[in-house]
Amino acid sequence: MLHRRNKDTLKIARLITEACKKARQETQTAPEPEMTQPIKWPVSCTVGPGLEGAIACETKIGYVNGTKGWLIYRGYDIFELSAKCTFEEVSYLLLHGDLPTKSQLKEYNKKLVKARTLNNTMRLLMSYPIEGMNAMSALRLGTNLMRYELTYIDGVTYKPDLSRVIGSDEDSIPMETKPMGEKDAIYGFKKSKTDKGKFRNIEPNLHAGADIESCYHLIAGVATVAAAVARLKQGKLPIEPDPKLSHAANFLYMMNGRVPTPLEERVMDVALILHADHGMNASTFASMVVASTLSDMYFSVGSGIAALNGPLHGGANEQVLYMLEEIGSVKKVEKWVKKAIKSKQKVMGFGHRVYKSYDPRARVLAPLAEYMAKNSPENRELFGIAQALEKEVLASIDKEKKIFPNVDFYSGIVYACMGIQPDMFTPIFAVSRVAGWTARVLEYMENNRIFRPRAMYIGQFDRELKPIAKRT
Ligand code: CMC
Repeated sequence: MLHRRNKDTLKIARLITEACKKARQETQTAPEPEMTQPIKWPVSCTVGPGLEGAIACETKIGYVNGTKGWLIYRGYDIFELSAKCTFEEVSYLLLHGDLPTKSQLKEYNKKLVKARTLNNTMRLLMSYPIEGMNAMSALRLGTNLMRYELTYIDGVTYKPDLSRVIGSDEDSIPMETKPMGEKDAIYGFKKSKTDKGKFRNIEPNLHAGADIESCYHLIAGVATVAAAVARLKQGKLPIEPDPKLSHAANFLYMMNGRVPTPLEERVMDVALILHADHGMNASTFASMVVASTLSDMYFSVGSGIAALNGPLHGGANEQVLYMLEEIGSVKKVEKWVKKAIKSKQKVMGFGHRVYKSYDPRARVLAPLAEYMAKNSPENRELFGIAQALEKEVLASIDKEKKIFPNVDFYSGIVYACMGIQPDMFTPIFAVSRVAGWTARVLEYMENNRIFRPRAMYIGQFDRELKPIAKRT
């Protein structure tokens, strides 16, 4: 695993250190005692709409202090991790609790290298119309195909019984017109043997999909699938990973078809570190809810991808770029913001459920976007609009609302500078957040209890049931 260093990568470290210094000057550093102590169940908390303020579990993985603008992974400050570590080290930290030693990192990297090659998944993925699909939907599909390739859950002993299947020409696959089993049902599928609850001939490299190996597979594999999706959407064939490249460099290489510059590799590495975990956000919670039913890690990650897709969550980064393009020039920012506020339109990339201060991830990404955009006139202009927009929104929106730029505000410009298409911005978020999803699921499963909140019923009782003819 090669993490190349040069003057650009040193500059990136310096920019992060400066952002850190600024954050420390502007924020205090005491944890909130009410959010950082062991729970005695049942816990009392005030819950708002959207489960705001609800405590769902204990964790040692990460902490977000929204008032002060801190983000901590396993006790380490996000600024320090992003300035000094690699995504491999940080994902290991999230999963295992400590930063890896040299030999642990070597072992971990070996596993990632192996899991990055997904021949069967790629073959299956290419049989779908990926070019016309939403990239997140294709990524979710690819995760399911990984489940099929890498686990025995769906029953590897299953072989189709061709004698029961009526053949058809490829252009006209018949649909069943009568329920299966009736005399003239025209198409028959063999029932999977796993229905009998027995697994036989399980290959040693296949597993039950709910252990640390699945986490490694998913952390490595989601990047391979995302890169393949990017290429298939452009009518290009997927590229095999290069075992000598780092995770960030491999992802860019598999997506763009060229080895990235040290600057691109380092900036992608930092972006992956910044997005890797973030408390009980919607996609992490979705993954945990699915895992709590004793479903498996692949399904959990699939639901994380689905939840991340929405524009209020990970989908915002793509929307930010379109918004900046729509605004079009620095001159038009003021008028655009006035209109947005008047019509109560949400400004994409602003606001956060937890941060009521400047998001530390945006503090890092803003100078990186500026540095990257220096050599790209088109993106330099977008960065100028973003800066003007930030200033205008902060000056115009009611201060009481405590709205600041979030992680999604500057990340899109960073990716655009690497030549990445906007529809891949949210998949990049998933390539990183898969580390947090898997770590949190694994931790929660140590003391699993199925998630099952209740809803307050505010409907009617004792209604008279009228026959259909009398209903109006
Ligand atoms: N632009 C303008 N006003 C806003 C914004 C915004 N981006 N965000 C919140 N507000 C206002 C909102 O209109 C409301 O005002 P009022 O009380 O007058 O109705 C108040 O602030 C509270 O907003 P909320 O929507 O109730 O807050 P929430 O905690 O439910 O939502 C949020 C948080 C992130 C969904 C929201 O701020 C938002 O929609 N932001 C834009 C989308 C975005 O950037 N999402 C990425 C979030 S960070 C990365 C991630 O988690 O994926």
